[in-house]
Amino acid sequence: MTPEDRAAWLRKELERHNVLYYVHDSPEISDSEWDALFRELKELEEKHPELRTADSPTQRVGVAPLSKFETHRHRILMLSLDNAFGPDEMRAFDERVKRGLGTTDDIEYECELKFDGLSMSLTYVDGVLTVGATRGNGETGEDVTTNVRTVRGVPLRLQEGVAGTLEVRGEIVMLKEVFAKLNEDQLARGLKVFVNPRNAASGAMRQLDSRLVAERKLNFFAYGVGHADGVPATVQSQISLMNWLKALGFPVRQEAIALTGVEAVIDYVEKVESARSSLPFQIDGVVIKVNSFEQQGELGFTARSPKWAIASKFAAEQAFTKLNAIECNVGRTGAVTPYAVLEPVYVGGATVGLATLHNYFELARKDIREGDTVIVQRAGDVIPEVVGPDLAKRPQGAMPHVPPTHCPVCGTELVREEGMAVLRCPNTRGCPAQVQRKLEHFASRGAMDIEGLGEKQIARFVELGWLSDLPSIYHLRDKRDEMLALERMGEQSVSNLLAAIDESKVRSLDRFIYGLGIRFVGDRTADDLAREFRSLDGFRRATYEELEAVPDIGPRTATAIEEWLLEEENQKVVQGLLDAGVQPVEAEAPVGDLFAGKTLVFTGKLEKFSREDAEALVMKQGGKAAGSVSKNTTYVVAGPGAGSKLEKAQQLGVQILTEEEFLALLPAGTL
Ligand code: IVH
Repeated sequence: MTPEDRAAWLRKELERHNVLYYVHDSPEISDSEWDALFRELKELEEKHPELRTADSPTQRVGVAPLSKFETHRHRILMLSLDNAFGPDEMRAFDERVKRGLGTTDDIEYECELKFDGLSMSLTYVDGVLTVGATRGNGETGEDVTTNVRTVRGVPLRLQEGVAGTLEVRGEIVMLKEVFAKLNEDQLARGLKVFVNPRNAASGAMRQLDSRLVAERKLNFFAYGVGHADGVPATVQSQISLMNWLKALGFPVRQEAIALTGVEAVIDYVEKVESARSSLPFQIDGVVIKVNSFEQQGELGFTARSPKWAIASKFAAEQAFTKLNAIECNVGRTGAVTPYAVLEPVYVGGATVGLATLHNYFELARKDIREGDTVIVQRAGDVIPEVVGPDLAKRPQGAMPHVPPTHCPVCGTELVREEGMAVLRCPNTRGCPAQVQRKLEHFASRGAMDIEGLGEKQIARFVELGWLSDLPSIYHLRDKRDEMLALERMGEQSVSNLLAAIDESKVRSLDRFIYGLGIRFVGDRTADDLAREFRSLDGFRRATYEELEAVPDIGPRTATAIEEWLLEEENQKVVQGLLDAGVQPVEAEAPVGDLFAGKTLVFTGKLEKFSREDAEALVMKQGGKAAGSVSKNTTYVVAGPGAGSKLEKAQQLGVQILTEEEFLALLPAGTL
């Protein structure tokens, strides 16, 4: 046998044993036998470096550190899931599914564990792992391939050849056992401890040195596919997809099950919840998916999640602890909200020291007092809250909390808004807390992303009177010399800060709108607004009717935006920003309306252009490009190798075009 053949055999054999261990839980050889094979391969590769391949198991120990991660654009958006809390919300989901499918028959659902980890996209080309990427914002994530290779459950090469591209999605998790051991080690070495396994896992995946990632001993579980060229025709349901993934060598939890009717699903969720603590990793619910791909296709998607799936989240985890003090915060819009300072307690997978008390009305209603023992609740990523006091443990002399009458920051008398449970500081321009929060929000990552202008820096500049409103950020340049005289502000950091401020002048319109801090306008809504109105001018002139007509914007948000736009003070702020040279980059306008109101899906191989270019053409012509076929799809453009999407299109009677036919639709001279 040549060294080349031997190396190939060893690679294959080691991966096969890996799958037996991680996927089937039935190893054929002992750890030391495995180690011997591994050592042999390693020595062989050291002698013949040309034999070292990217899919070699030896790469699992990590490689030399990267300087940064590249970004990775997902070919199909990585969406999130809608949540359901409790049986009633599950039944409501079931009703929506039935309505969507126009049936009263029981639906077949596939149920899976909802892993509390980090979602990961794994791209295989001709059966070999080529890219591992984080979800990021759903559109683009970070390319963490070298880190992913160290995760033992991730196959480096598929057990069965799959031609073309296959993108598998799943969750990276850290086992509870590994987490406990990691924290013990951290403590022993005087390092910080991690709050929960998810944070430890995601912290690990962000390491630039994959050798350190290998030490974290992460696991992976698969739950779906993204872009897929060659799914076998027999795979027509989520449960058969899971079985296929398992056959390819992916760890798939055996809890995945197909059940008929929502009541069976509710029972299953209950069973999983009671077994939750005995699982070797953390979960935060059960994911329920309509089993049949055909039905999934009919149901389609909303902007952020599939209509055919839902996460049944477990009841929030609760714990008792002592409430040491009630304090309050002044928010961006002047709302004064009380919060509890707690004796730190571990709940819902994290240590909680502060918890919201929502507002003074709720605080009084629940009669929560300083010194009380209270129930604290934390579910998933939700902000921890105080549920109520344990009256039996109330200390003698505990007094009801008296809400403030004046702003704790600027001293202005607070107002109680009609019909609102909120106490508000009306000093919108002069209250340092409000000014501070508005500035922080505007400069934050998701908004104008001004590096170096964080909470502390803003506080310092507000105190010095340099920052008072949003436009004043762009006049900081005038304070250059004074800034240099400040402590911890060298030539370099001042230049960097001023450059970052300048750079932010040309952020995209959606970030700008989000940064304005209009009530109820989060990043998604800001994105919708930017797409709809395209220019700042268009947005500024938007009427209530136009706002409400934007998909996903309801009356409450439309009213808030309208009121904000009409307020003279806000108009001045926007004008001030423009005068200071801020020029939000307008959303790209379509050049035609050929595909207005139409949704296209591309599948299979395209000869004339990349899929991205084809999709860009569709958008330029006013259309939408989607990743999967549903009854809302207008055309499916299918090239060679088209698989399940083509089938779905045929089943749903969606019009199918060849690449030539699609080309023929485009205006002359497009290519
Ligand atoms: S399916 C289109 N299945 O939950 C949605 N997600 O809120 C595809 N997750 O980011 C998700 N376990 O990281 C799916 N069995 C499971 C899951 C799961 C955990 C995570 C996933 C996603 C988040 C959705």
